[in-house]
This record gives sequence, structure tokens and C-alpha cells, in this order.
Amino acid sequence: MSASDLALIPFVSVQNMMRLILEIGTETCIAEIETYLEEDFRRWPLFDKTPRVASHSHEGVIELMPTSDGIEYGFKYVNGHPKNMKDGLQTVTAFGVLASVDTGYPLLFAEMTILTALRTAATSALATKYLAPKGATTMAMIGNGAQAEFQALALKTVCGIGTVRLFDVDPKATEKCARNLAGSGMTVIKCATPEEAILGAQIITTCTADKKNATVLSDNMVGAGVHINGIGGDCPGKTELHRDIVMRSDVFVEYPEQTRIEGEIQQMPEDFPITELWQVMTGDKPGRTDDAQQITLFDGVGFAIEDFSALRWLRDKVSQGRFCHMLDMVADPDDPRDLFGMVQRERERMSTA
Ligand SMILES: NC(=O)c1ccc[n+]([C@@H]2O[C@H](COP(=O)([O-])OP(=O)(O)OC[C@H]3O[C@@H](n4cnc5c(N)ncnc54)[C@H](O)[C@@H]3O)[C@@H](O)[C@H]2O)c1
Repeated sequence: MSASDLALIPFVSVQNMMRLILEIGTETCIAEIETYLEEDFRRWPLFDKTPRVASHSHEGVIELMPTSDGIEYGFKYVNGHPKNMKDGLQTVTAFGVLASVDTGYPLLFAEMTILTALRTAATSALATKYLAPKGATTMAMIGNGAQAEFQALALKTVCGIGTVRLFDVDPKATEKCARNLAGSGMTVIKCATPEEAILGAQIITTCTADKKNATVLSDNMVGAGVHINGIGGDCPGKTELHRDIVMRSDVFVEYPEQTRIEGEIQQMPEDFPITELWQVMTGDKPGRTDDAQQITLFDGVGFAIEDFSALRWLRDKVSQGRFCHMLDMVADPDDPRDLFGMVQRERERMSTA
């Protein structure tokens, strides 16, 4: 029996995701995802929201991230294992599903390791667009691992950043990142210390991986008038910034119930003041109010709605049947109550084949 149309669901493999990115261009992908993100941030209240479901182990975490806008439902499976890299494995891998709320049938299956890098970069760019001081030209990129190039290109394409100053505790990571960004149109400067990297930068993005409360930036390193994207602190017991920086900053978050568990603000009291990023976009709450004195911190941990936006974007990209193949994923018996009979008929079909 060949699978019916209803049984077949588009699947975007890693290979197809790479083909899509190479055809459209990384920066265009990020810029397009950023517009889907902004659309969804602006209708934030109507989404189902819950802190992600995390299964922690000594070595890392495996998380499920569900949400719905009432029409479609999405979830992502993602891990975070900082020790993986030294074993030749990635710190973060992911896949996800978009489904119809009306029928519960899946609409799309996708690799989301690369898609997560695109959406995380697009989210940083979206936050930076609203929070960075006017006229920002230079960013520091602390942590030059898998996410780093995407983060830099996102700020170039969405926010017009021209210079990126790179630092990683492992110089090989910085070499890799500089090599990959050569020809991007950005001025790329390799730095030997985090202090050197943040020199003259109006935007500081930290995207490091360590399973501990690290101090990637200490208080005396951060002057007034900067915007920080703190991306790597995204788990209980895993932060990047000294708490005094958080104390001096106006902090913007995705979903407070999740960020208070996972973000930089896990170091702060439960009632530490924060602003939800979506409210800045709708104009309900102020973002940056002073270019010279204020430190803004986007305490980004990654929220399910961002993956939902990315999956929506991807679904629209593959709607013409390109960059995907069809998987036989949904059992589709002729009589919906006769699932058992469908299996039996397959046995008969196999024995006569
Ligand atoms: N907020 C989000 O939405 C989101 C999304 C994806 C990944 N992440 C997080 O971002 C982090 C980076 O992810 P990745 O896939 O790039 O990981 P990765 O392992 O590929 O890269 C991390 C880099 O950080 C460097 N590093 C570690 N400690 C450092 C320090 N103190 N100073 C400077 N560099 C340091 C490592 O040498 C490595 O090159 C992870 O912690 C991951 O969980 C967050």
C-alpha cells in the first residue's frame, strides 16, 4: 500500500535546511525570521505559554518547548550539553514539529539545530533593534562557538553593525569564527581578552557554554550606555554575568516565569524588576530611555514562541514542495476506526506481493 496524501508530512532534513540557507542566504533567512518573530511578539498575549519542560542530568539538559496560537501548535526538542564539544559532539541539537490545532495532525517536521541558531540570532537582533543605543556600530562577541557567526550576521543585517570584536577562552574558536566571517562585509577583530573585546563596543553579546555560574563579564568591565545580549546563561546554575551587572541594568526578558528559573536573573530576588520584551514592541513599556547612562540587558534564554515563529517561517518556505521530502508519519486508515484492520490488510498485501 502506498501512503495516502494525509499520511505524508513534509520533513526538512539538515541537508535541505542547508540548501535553503545557501539558496536564500544566511542574512536573508535571519532577516525574514526576525519579521516572523516580531509579528508573534506583537501578539504575545494570545499564545499558550509555559516554562519549558526540562529534564536535567549531571552532564546537561533535555527540554521540550511547546506553544500554540490557537490555530497552530509547535514544539521543539532541544538539548544543552556543554561537555559534548570536547567529545566532538555539538552542545545544542534540536528538532521540532508544527501541527494543526483543528485536527491535531502534524503539518511539518524539521531539523532545528541550524534553525535554532538562526532564530536565536534573529531574536538577539530583534531585542537589539529595540534596546541598543542609537548609532551603535560595534559589537563584542564573547563565546565564538556554534551560535557565534549567526549572532554577528544577525546584528549586521538587522541592526547595521559593521564591526565585530571576537573573544573565546579557546583561541581556536575565535580563529574559526574570524575565518567564517571573513568576506561577510563586517570588520572582524580577534581579541585576546574579554576586556579587549568589549573596548569601544556599544553591544556585547555573551554566548558561552559552561555548566556553572561563570563570570564571563565582571562588573568593572561594563560601562554605561551599552546593550548586552546575554544568551548563554539559559539553565538553572548556568549564568554568564556578575550579578552586579544585572543589578545595574534594565533587564528585558522573554517569558518571566521561565527566565526567573533559567536566566541571569536567577541570581536575583524573585521580585527583581524586569520588562517583557513584547511590551516594548507594542509600546506598552519603555525600552531604552537614555543612550549614554543606561545599560540594557536582554536576558535571553530562548522561548517556545521563537521556535514557533521559526517553524512558521520554514513551513512557508517549503509550501511549494521544495527543500523537504514527504514522510509517511500519520496512520490513515480508510475507516478511521479501523486502525487494526489497516494493519491486517497490510499483512495480506505483503503476503500477496
Ligand atoms: N538563549 C538561547 O535562545 C540559546 C539558544 C541556543 C544556545 N544557547 C546557549 O548558548 C551557548 C552557546 O551555544 P553554542 O551552541 O554556541 O555552544 P558551543 O559549545 O558551540 O560554543 C560555546 C563557546 O563558549 C566558549 N566559552 C566557554 N566559556 C567561556 C568564557 N568564560 N569566555 C569566553 N568563551 C567561553 C567555548 O570555548 C565555546 O567556543 C550555550 O550555553 C547554549 O545553551 C542559548
